[in-house]
Amino acid sequence: MLQRITHSECIYAPGDGELVKELFVALGFAVTKVEPYPYIIAHVDPDVMDVMSNVIYASELTEMQQAFEKTLQATLASSQEFREATDNWENDFRDDPQRSVHFGFQYESRDSFQATIDRLREASGPGKPLEGRLLVTGVYFPGDDGSITDTMAQGFVWTDVMASGILTFGQHLELQWHIEPSVVPTPA
Ligand SMILES: [Fe+2]
Repeated sequence: MLQRITHSECIYAPGDGELVKELFVALGFAVTKVEPYPYIIAHVDPDVMDVMSNVIYASELTEMQQAFEKTLQATLASSQEFREATDNWENDFRDDPQRSVHFGFQYESRDSFQATIDRLREASGPGKPLEGRLLVTGVYFPGDDGSITDTMAQGFVWTDVMASGILTFGQHLELQWHIEPSVVPTPA
């Protein structure tokens, strides 16, 4: 039987397409496009060039979502209570990233995991196009403060160049290096 997660559907703001590609490249993905479709396609495993599986799609957000995000931003600007709740939620991401909403990717080795973290930091450094739009928010190796497992290293990243959700709040991503083999679960 074949049954698996195939893709994540993401959106970006008009004009941010090149930044989205840059982010995907820094993550180590292969980036393609199929004309005439409007989607940037990121192949998470760059050796698997399937356009329907192993992929993240990103396209410009719809006019309806643009209108929604504009209203959301205006409401945020006019409501201290809403802003505080948003800031508290964002801080919770930083304090407790393993339990906050995100999706994640596995890297093959400690070296490829670390090299990806380094590329993301480089791509978002001072004066770089992704400065302020991409942030490595935490890296946890077993035994580190905030680490919750000895089975993997976890790196958490925030960006607002794309999101599978509400662009105003951005997207959190997780990078993993699996140190120990997966545990086989029992049915719930
Ligand atoms: Fe996770």
